[in-house]
Amino acid sequence: MKTHKFLILFLFMTFNLIALDTYEKNIDNLKLYISYEQINDRIVKLSDELNEIYKDKEVLVVLVLKGSIIFASDLIKELKGNFILETIKASSYGMKGSNRQKLQLFGLENLEIENKHVILIDDIFDSGNTLYNIKQAFLEKNPSSVRTIVLLKKNIKRDITYLPDYSLFDIDDKFVVGYGLDYKECFRNLKGIYIVNEK
Ligand code: IMP
Ligand code: MG
Repeated sequence: MKTHKFLILFLFMTFNLIALDTYEKNIDNLKLYISYEQINDRIVKLSDELNEIYKDKEVLVVLVLKGSIIFASDLIKELKGNFILETIKASSYGMKGSNRQKLQLFGLENLEIENKHVILIDDIFDSGNTLYNIKQAFLEKNPSSVRTIVLLKKNIKRDITYLPDYSLFDIDDKFVVGYGLDYKECFRNLKGIYIVNEK
């Protein structure tokens, strides 16, 4: 009898989890937050600034996979001059129930950074740990300069004081998808930035 109750409870919980996942992955439940036109506008303004700063310089543009792919590809199309493109992959893992996360970087060992002007591009600055740690790892390889760019920065209190050099939009503390950002690998292909509609 007891097993019976557990089985019903288990099935109920599984059903709820699947329903929630299906709801969150449903494109109809997304609300447009920032349009492609708004993003493009900011990209053009930022690229004007970068073209001025890096005039006559060779620059290593490093994009953090996968979230910044779409943003970075639109941005670099607006850059003039000698920009070399590289990628790096970052993933963080932590103990269940703990906020402490350890960042793993893949691809850094293959990059020639010494005496280079580096631009690091990431999709979103949330806790800031990812970008801060990537920047520190780059600084250890003695570049001439490192500037960091993110598409989005969440308006939240952080443990760290470091901030990216450029962020195109400051946003509310909501989970956003689209334009490279994903929810469980979905929605990266959307042209604008969306929030999952609160139920
Ligand atoms: P941070 O280290 O907390 O700043 O986290 C940065 C990474 O978390 C980003 O590069 C994203 O991959 C992911 N992330 C944080 N917030 C969001 C979000 O709202 N939507 C999608 N991905 C997010
Ligand atoms: Mg990311």
